Amino acid sequence: MNDTLKIIAERFSCRKFTDQIPGEKELMAIAQAGIQAPSGMNRQHWHVIIVKDKSIIDEMDAEGMKILASMENKAMYERIMERGGKLFYNAPCMIVVAIKEAFPKGAELIDCGIAAQNIVLAASSLGVANMHCGFAGLAFAGSKGPEFKCRLKFPAGYECGMGILLGYAAETFPPHLPNQEKITIIG
Ligand SMILES: Cc1cc2nc3c(=O)[nH]c(=O)nc-3n(C[C@H](O)[C@H](O)[C@H](O)COP(=O)(O)O)c2cc1C
Repeated sequence: MNDTLKIIAERFSCRKFTDQIPGEKELMAIAQAGIQAPSGMNRQHWHVIIVKDKSIIDEMDAEGMKILASMENKAMYERIMERGGKLFYNAPCMIVVAIKEAFPKGAELIDCGIAAQNIVLAASSLGVANMHCGFAGLAFAGSKGPEFKCRLKFPAGYECGMGILLGYAAETFPPHLPNQEKITIIG
């Protein structure tokens, strides 16, 4: 297995972080990997925002939890409560990939997912623990959304596409077991 395949196979979603923030050099290399991603027609409708201010991360976490708690379906809220009650698992750092609507509508989500995966694989390659966090979008979904977008310096017309938690693992977790039945070979 080469280094790239090894990083892909060993990547895992970290849900327990130490307080240590990754260094500037690591964070810039990780962000660079995000904007190095391919995008349809090379539109690059993304903006990678590195958030190292834990107080903002905590405020966004609290706002997201408030919104999750107010939902009629309590399943997701209960799931997070069982995992410690923190949407962002106390990660000391996160990247928000902000995105702008593309044509055709929705294509920006595919670009965003590819950029986010570049980010987590780059982080893993540098020993920086990480987790894709779709719930990051909750922080921007309520009344405090515009304030967070302003504090995070979202460019005009951009929305939250994806959050990626970053830090160092206080505990490691095994990656999921790939289901081999999900591969079909024709011919
Ligand atoms: C688009 C996307 C959004 C995700 N959002 C969350 C999330 O909000 N909270 C969470 O705990 N895990 C989240 N995850 C992590 C998945 O639960 C995890 O990737 C999956 O369980 C497989 O485990 P592994 O990443 O350790 O292999 C997300 C993963 C992806 C790809």
